Amino acid sequence: MFGFTEDMTEKQELVRKFCEDWVYPNLAEIDAGKCCPDYIWEEWCKIPGFASPCAPKFTGGEEMPFATCCAMWEELGKADVGVATGFGSNNLGSFPILLTGTDEQKKEHFGNLLQGKFGAFGLTEKGAGSDAGAVATEAKKEGEYYILNGDKCYITTSGKAIETKSTLAICASTDKSLGSKGLTMFLIPGDTPGLTAVKEEDKMGIRGSQTCELHLENVKLHESRILGGPEKGLGFGFKTAMMTLDAGRCVVAAQANGLALRVIEVLVDYCNNHMDGGRPLSKNPAATFKIAEIEAQTQACRQLVYHTAFMRDAGLNHGHESCCAKIVATENAINATRVAMDIMGVNGIRKADPSTPQGIMEKLYRDARILSIYEGTNQVQRLVVTNGLFPKKKK
Ligand code: CAA
Repeated sequence: MFGFTEDMTEKQELVRKFCEDWVYPNLAEIDAGKCCPDYIWEEWCKIPGFASPCAPKFTGGEEMPFATCCAMWEELGKADVGVATGFGSNNLGSFPILLTGTDEQKKEHFGNLLQGKFGAFGLTEKGAGSDAGAVATEAKKEGEYYILNGDKCYITTSGKAIETKSTLAICASTDKSLGSKGLTMFLIPGDTPGLTAVKEEDKMGIRGSQTCELHLENVKLHESRILGGPEKGLGFGFKTAMMTLDAGRCVVAAQANGLALRVIEVLVDYCNNHMDGGRPLSKNPAATFKIAEIEAQTQACRQLVYHTAFMRDAGLNHGHESCCAKIVATENAINATRVAMDIMGVNGIRKADPSTPQGIMEKLYRDARILSIYEGTNQVQRLVVTNGLFPKKKK
């Protein structure tokens, strides 16, 4: 891959080895649950720095470059997008703290993550999905404290974060009259009274990733729990969330590329071994040209992901590129699974052990579907790209 650093190659190979040992052989168990089994996560955390790749050095972490994280998550996504999403929650749930947290908040949060606990990013609500600025969870000021009430939905690994008494980044409105400018991000310890995970979702795909609803009832927090502190952090929650997603969307695109690479691998193997009319399917251009097209799209998508990641590592604005990468990479991955089923016919839709060639494509198809939905639907990505192309005139 053009531009891959030694570190990216080394970490990607470590992830590949991990997946060969722990993910590929256990896909049936992962797909049967609602969360990645603990023993797989525990093995992941044994690899130095992996529990929280972006943890800053002063908190005891390795502070891996973002491009390295993308290379790792491409490889994890190739094995299982659910596992990649669940483990990736420690990136997404940490970006707000990295971006705006105080040093004390970083030490607390990454101290938890480096012990093998999960983080979580609590933005979405039933009435605030695509319109993230409409967050209704309220944080009312009472002296030096805030009292939070409301509900969050589809929050990855939040049940685990609460169970292990880790730290969650949660967005609430501190001033409803200001709309999105009245949103504030809080760093909430998982064992705070009134914070509960009330429902674990049962999803068609990415079953290796835990998705929960959260209920906040009179959650009392000192103002020092505002991310960045009360002076800097008050009213900065929406921007923190958007900057978090600038990174998160690129990671989703990397995972999508991983899934597309897996589809290609499965298809090449299938075409080499499946005989049709007395010759292998690999001799039939009607099939191989379709695979070539997926390969071309996937390689282009990978270049865009790493270009975006290098921009982020260089400190450049990359939100626009991140949205572009998410659009093309996720739609390519979804399309790849659809085309694969056309080529494989009934062999592609059969339900069987996903760790076998007979059962993998049906699972990849189910896993791919979320990619164009989470971390901002692809319509939201198009909106952000459009706003970049046609900027609003300042009044
Ligand atoms: N970086 C910094 N600032 C940003 C920004 C960014 N990327 N994007 C917007 N802002 C700023 C703007 O500059 C503006 O600031 P000023 O008013 O000071 O100029 C302010 O934020 C408001 O911006 P917009 O007018 O663009 O805001 P909007 O309300 O029109 O936002 C939206 C529209 C882009 C659709 C936004 O609501 C959005 O991204 N929605 C999707 C939310 C989303 O992706 N949710 C996913 C949740 S996480 C998840 O799914 C993960 C999981 O658990 C698996």
